Amino acid sequence: MTDEAKPSSELCRIGVAIPKELLDAFDGSIERRGYENRSEAFRDLIRAALIEEDLAKDDQRAVGTLTLVYDHHVRQLGDRLTEMQHAHHHQVVSTLHVHLDHSNCLEVLVLRGRAGEIRGIADKLIAAKGVHHGKLTLTVPKEE
Ligand code: NI
Repeated sequence: MTDEAKPSSELCRIGVAIPKELLDAFDGSIERRGYENRSEAFRDLIRAALIEEDLAKDDQRAVGTLTLVYDHHVRQLGDRLTEMQHAHHHQVVSTLHVHLDHSNCLEVLVLRGRAGEIRGIADKLIAAKGVHHGKLTLTVPKEE
């Protein structure tokens, strides 16, 4: 069922006092990002804050992606990264590998599990010698 098809939850109206300069800056920002109205932008900010708070808990169920860029010429790095992923095959759901150029590889891992264990796996992969850059993005799926 899509969001549109679900009966909408009760909407509450609130009044918020906010300095004019801050509101002007916010309006400019949401317009640049393509929001049609302020309410949807506020709702997204609130959801993002709540998700951040949930993700701070190590036992929070989470999904996410880890992006890695590494030099496959570094001795046995590809093998080591694969070995580390196999050690966590319950959390590493899928991987995408792109040969960027002669020496650089881009790898995107889809991860699922407890936030703390996912962070631990990501930290180990990013810290591997030869990994130039790594970035983990986590979120919490909406409850059904
Ligand atoms: Ni490659």
